[in-house]
Amino acid sequence: MSVSSYFSLNQKAWDERAKVHFDSQFYDVNGFMQGQSSLTEIESSELTEIEVKGKKMLHLQCHFGLDSLSWARLGAKVTGVDFSEPAINKARELNHALNLDACFICSDVYSFGEQAKAEFDIVFTSFGTICWLPCIDTWAEVIADSLKSGGCFYMAEFHPIRDLLDGESYFYAPAPFVCDEGTYTENCDGKQASMASWSHPLSRVITALINAGIKIDMVNEFPFSPFDCFDGLEEREPKRFSQLVGENPLPLVYSIKGTKN
Ligand SMILES: C[S@@+](CC[C@H](N)C(=O)[O-])C[C@H]1O[C@@H](n2cnc3c(N)ncnc32)[C@H](O)[C@@H]1O
Repeated sequence: MSVSSYFSLNQKAWDERAKVHFDSQFYDVNGFMQGQSSLTEIESSELTEIEVKGKKMLHLQCHFGLDSLSWARLGAKVTGVDFSEPAINKARELNHALNLDACFICSDVYSFGEQAKAEFDIVFTSFGTICWLPCIDTWAEVIADSLKSGGCFYMAEFHPIRDLLDGESYFYAPAPFVCDEGTYTENCDGKQASMASWSHPLSRVITALINAGIKIDMVNEFPFSPFDCFDGLEEREPKRFSQLVGENPLPLVYSIKGTKN
């Protein structure tokens, strides 16, 4: 199968997921409409309000826009990109209903990158994004091509060690891992869809960013996930879900911050 066939497979699954997720407790759209932020303690502490206020931010793989609009509420001028049309339509509706000025583009990351201009102060992406992309080098180039010189890149992502525990490879392979998956929200009713994903170990992500011209300023690893989205997690502190190996916590999330040279 070609990359575009895998993207079509994933897009179909994400189109369905967008509708299910929108109605879920997990995403709590009602709470969001009433003013709650969808950002977690990780990205909120590492990319602060002061850094985003008034800045042009590109949010890659924005889903139906809760994080994009949370940044917009903090004063960022956000452009969200996602290849799922139902997700982008929902994001636009929320933007309109909340009278915010974010903009949403329906595109896959690589096609967006083909027309990228170095116009953004910040590129942001988080939680469950890069595993859907086959080539991490192209992803890093899209980020570098989108940022102004001196612009900031920030990502928070699930730790790839978790893939290994789920029976996938820790290391990258060009052939994707294809399986039938349910989704992580409580309302999925056991429905499954075939999806293709790729493992990207930390070393490859960091190297791809460096090669694309991003100076790495910070790498962090966290012994918890802010989301209860994997089997076997335990909320040992409020909104901190962890998994012990023996007595020690597994790294579940990492974050990277960098600057375009
Ligand atoms: C887990 S979600 C994004 C996480 C986000 N933090 C959230 O929960 O709102 C992953 C998103 O990536 C999008 N996606 C997957 N592959 C993509 C691609 N090749 N190009 C653009 N978007 C893609 C999906 O449509 C989905 O909205």
